[in-house]
Amino acid sequence: MLHVNENYSKIKPTYLFAEIAHRVAAHQKAHPDAKVIRLGIGDVTEPLAPSVIAAMHKAVDDEAGKGDFHGYGPEQGYAFLREKIAQVDFQDRGIDISADEILVSDGAKCDCGNIQELFGADVKIAVGDPVYPVYVDTNVMAGRHDIQLLPCTAENSFVPGPEGCTADIVYLCYPNNPTGAIATKAQLQAWVDWANAKKALILFDAAYEAFIRNPEIPHSIYECKGAKTCAIEIRSFSKTAGFTGIRCGYTVVPNGLVAYTADGSEVPLRPMWMRRQTTKFNGASYITQRGAEAIYSPEGQRECRDIIDFYLGNAKLMKDALKSLGYTVTGGDNSPYLWVNVKGDSWAFFDKLLKEANVVTTPGAGFGKAGEGYIRISAFNSRANVLEAIERLKKVL
Ligand code: MLT
Repeated sequence: MLHVNENYSKIKPTYLFAEIAHRVAAHQKAHPDAKVIRLGIGDVTEPLAPSVIAAMHKAVDDEAGKGDFHGYGPEQGYAFLREKIAQVDFQDRGIDISADEILVSDGAKCDCGNIQELFGADVKIAVGDPVYPVYVDTNVMAGRHDIQLLPCTAENSFVPGPEGCTADIVYLCYPNNPTGAIATKAQLQAWVDWANAKKALILFDAAYEAFIRNPEIPHSIYECKGAKTCAIEIRSFSKTAGFTGIRCGYTVVPNGLVAYTADGSEVPLRPMWMRRQTTKFNGASYITQRGAEAIYSPEGQRECRDIIDFYLGNAKLMKDALKSLGYTVTGGDNSPYLWVNVKGDSWAFFDKLLKEANVVTTPGAGFGKAGEGYIRISAFNSRANVLEAIERLKKVL
């Protein structure tokens, strides 16, 4: 008899953003003329940076035989991209990460979901609550049900500390999805010290680092002393450079980072991740990686920064408007997400905004129990839509 993986029965039958998409589709079907404004899933709306577009056109010409044709790429990602990443994202910031510690992928979501395969079925996991659902669901799918939830509340400014954390692996995401909170260097250093002392691992999701404008806030966990012996960092070009539809990101697994066998022997994690990726993944396309490389040119950096500033401008407009309506709002300053205290049932608030204002948000409860009472609003949209959404919110709230 065919036996299913029963762990799937322990997660919600629908992924959060799929559930929201169903509700929005049903609403749109019932009201075909409604102009729905989507501030739910964090999906970019602005076109790619001109430098990226030009580099991808050129790469298409290469693949068309006008330049050097490329078939399967190097398993770890092209050196032309990894070297730029190492230089611009790390070495220029005084962080000691080299190109051989970087593994290019088709985005942070896959890496966040797949990385848990490297660890024993019995490792204990800790996550923030609320949290990006991928960390939890992928561990539950793999049979790890006993997940420690670290409450992220207004009382701790949505940044839990390591006190009382009993896990072997903790997922940290800063700037945070969904709360938009940022962690100071001292707060991250406390986690690094905890992980090194406990021989635990930090999986640091830095998908939103490009939104940091406060110069005091670290962009990478490796800005903390000792992080190379206890942390893997996952990055994405989705929000940094509008690659949600292109798909590219990377994971840093430092040389010398180890986990342990049952008898206590050290096993380096970078070769294991390489082994996993080369077995199950054939790399991001050449065209994609050429596009990603262009992000690191001086023009590419300027263009991407301008686009992010534009989204941060949207966030500021919405934050000011919601505050003027009497709501307590966090996030939005160094993050594309606003975390709004709605003082009530978050799915009911989501439904109200959808039905009465044709505005899509994300209910905080979808990110975990401690998200109840909040909604997340994404700043990814055109300025015209954001201004229109603000007018509609003013009417219904
Ligand atoms: C979100 O809205 O939380 C993100 O867009 C989801 C993702 O990056 O996968």
